[in-house]
Amino acid sequence: MVEATLSDIMAAVPEPMLHLSQSGQVAQANHAARVLLGDWIEGRSYAAVLRQPGLLSAIEAAQGGGTETEARLHLTDQTGESQFRVRISPVGAPNARGIRALLLHLTDITHLHEAEEMRRDFVANVSHELRTPLTAVMGFIETLRGPARDDAAARERFLGIMEAEARRMNRLVSDLLSLSRVESQERQRPSTDVDLKVVLEGVIAALRPAAEDQGCSLVLEFAPPEPGLVPVMIASGYRLKGDRDQLMQVFLNLCENALKYGGTGKSVTVRLGWQAGTGAIKGPVLVTQVIDQGEGIDPLHIPRLTERFYRVDNHRSRAMGGTGLGLAIVKHIVNRHRGRLRIDSQLGQGSVFTVVLPAA
Ligand SMILES: Nc1ncnc2c1ncn2[C@@H]1O[C@H](COP(=O)(O)OP(=O)(O)OP(=O)(O)O)[C@@H](O)[C@H]1O
Ligand SMILES: [Mg+2]
Repeated sequence: MVEATLSDIMAAVPEPMLHLSQSGQVAQANHAARVLLGDWIEGRSYAAVLRQPGLLSAIEAAQGGGTETEARLHLTDQTGESQFRVRISPVGAPNARGIRALLLHLTDITHLHEAEEMRRDFVANVSHELRTPLTAVMGFIETLRGPARDDAAARERFLGIMEAEARRMNRLVSDLLSLSRVESQERQRPSTDVDLKVVLEGVIAALRPAAEDQGCSLVLEFAPPEPGLVPVMIASGYRLKGDRDQLMQVFLNLCENALKYGGTGKSVTVRLGWQAGTGAIKGPVLVTQVIDQGEGIDPLHIPRLTERFYRVDNHRSRAMGGTGLGLAIVKHIVNRHRGRLRIDSQLGQGSVFTVVLPAA
């Protein structure tokens, strides 16, 4: 049997690997390394290939010191920025000048980095969202202890504001918990039989009094099925495999939004129907549309609406008691049901939020 050479071994590694000779050249680069750094790198000085000070000094230290070390490599190209962890391992004995050959092994950590960044943003956002109501509450406590101590009318008013702020914090915390619960369940597909018509009727019954208070009508409509789908509809009604409470949460939020941002005195329509499967979803689907006649949403914002804490008009949404987590929760629940959420809107013409759920 013939022994495998270093180059055979490097060729078998899917991540980029470089072998640096004692004289400081890229003696060998495997396929992934040539794809990443260029076809020209073999035979070049490593300093010309990896022109990043932090990485170069880590390499020098390993050449002389003979211990394994790690460094980072940042790359920028047309597709964006990527980030690699570089493990630097000395191989073989040093030469007369005490310099060793090295093996460099690169691991793509771009996504790890992004996840870390998202977590940092998230913590910053949560802190900011909590700080605003907390500051208000603390300010009022101080006022009640001091200047407003003996002013009964002011006390009532301030207590009212403090209550509203405390409620906002409470809502924020329960939305955050609900988001983390849905996220952790996202891979478990729900399996109970749910009648979507009953869910929607429940949502509408719950929101109708509030809708009427603001002069809005809120109605459930049924879209006529395509002829081919009539048998499915007769056989299964509007049933699907789902999580009843979570589906309720989806449509509560969509209808609440439609009422909140749809303008007073306008109508909100919920339309339910069967459709043949489209795109990634095979087999028939249940399609629910929540349609409002409000001011609509600028196309600029649509792709970002389902991000946590994203609001078109921060001030207005906060004033209405919104946490900006509603649509993020909706999206995770819809994903858990292997469905799709689509948002169509035109400024001045209203918005349509479409939830497509696989029926099987
Ligand atoms: N039907 C709609 N018409 C116009 N804008 C909408 C509509 N639905 C949502 N939006 C915009 O999308 C943003 C995000 O909605 P989302 O439901 O995630 O948060 P929210 O309603 O502000 O707060 P929460 O749902 O937590 O009470 C809203 O702040 C609003 O700007
Ligand atoms: Mg909302």
